[in-house]
Amino acid sequence: MTLTPRIEAAMARAITIGQARVAGAPPGLASALDYAVTPGGARIRPTICLSVAMACGDDIPEMSDAAASALELIHCASLVHDDMPCFDDADLRRGKPAVHKAYGEPLALLTGDSLIVLAFEVLAREAHRDPRRSADLVVHLAQRTGMPGGICAGQGWESEEKIDLRAYHMAKTGALFMAATQMGAIAAGQDPEPWEELGARIGEAFQVADDLRDALLDTEALGKPAAQDVAHGRPSAVTELGVDGAIRRLKDILSGAIASIPSCPGEAALAQMVNKTAERLVPTQAAARAAR
Ligand code: IPE
Ligand code: IPE
Ligand code: MG
Ligand code: MG
Repeated sequence: MTLTPRIEAAMARAITIGQARVAGAPPGLASALDYAVTPGGARIRPTICLSVAMACGDDIPEMSDAAASALELIHCASLVHDDMPCFDDADLRRGKPAVHKAYGEPLALLTGDSLIVLAFEVLAREAHRDPRRSADLVVHLAQRTGMPGGICAGQGWESEEKIDLRAYHMAKTGALFMAATQMGAIAAGQDPEPWEELGARIGEAFQVADDLRDALLDTEALGKPAAQDVAHGRPSAVTELGVDGAIRRLKDILSGAIASIPSCPGEAALAQMVNKTAERLVPTQAAARAAR
């Protein structure tokens, strides 16, 4: 079953909250919010989040939708900031000019800020349905977004002389995948603890796959600048292990991911979703050959 309509509807509702105050609000920033979020990319994090919520019963669908959209808002915000000249200075994102190119740097900074704030508002607005779940979601997302182990920490590693690749990847990318599985569980009223490993494994695999794509594919295929890891002198799974080594590592992590799914009513359907995600992540033989 495709989750796309449910995810896009939740994202549209969230953006409407951000733009509802347009009367008396700056129209450029209001427009940039929408530009940064739609059309989306793969929406992999909300897909995982909703899949876990559904596997756990999804008894308050509005709570699951809020968790999934809040997560994706944070992800989109992180991309807007990541593309800015003070980070990766990338002109292209999802096949169109990056927000700082389309709207200028001040609005890009404010777009990222506004999306982050909006994410927490989306979660807090569901408190009337279940205050405990709503508050737990807020705390969880905050931990995965900020310091010491969230995206901010991950991006912060790039300003260190020596980068710990595992800690860097875990915080930069892994954090939001752990949030995806764990927030899905929280939204459905389950203990998030057993869901951390699955998120960590998918996140680690995703970052290795992203490193491979960065090295193997061109800018047109990626919809964002290619070969950035080498250009910025960043450590990556490919620079550390080579293409074959990185592909081996990716397959290794993914087989462990399936095994780590906690037992729950929708376990079989969830395993299918993880398998499908895995198939998409492993680069084709042709792409791997082309790089040699
Ligand atoms: C790209 O994430 C940034 C990383 C964390 C590596 P995605 O590849 O999920 O980006 P979109 O949302 O599909 O564009
Ligand atoms: C982006 O990482 C991850 C964030 C936390 C924003 P990258 O800089 O490696 O990802 P891309 O290649 O720009 O999507
Ligand atoms: Mg970056
Ligand atoms: Mg980047």
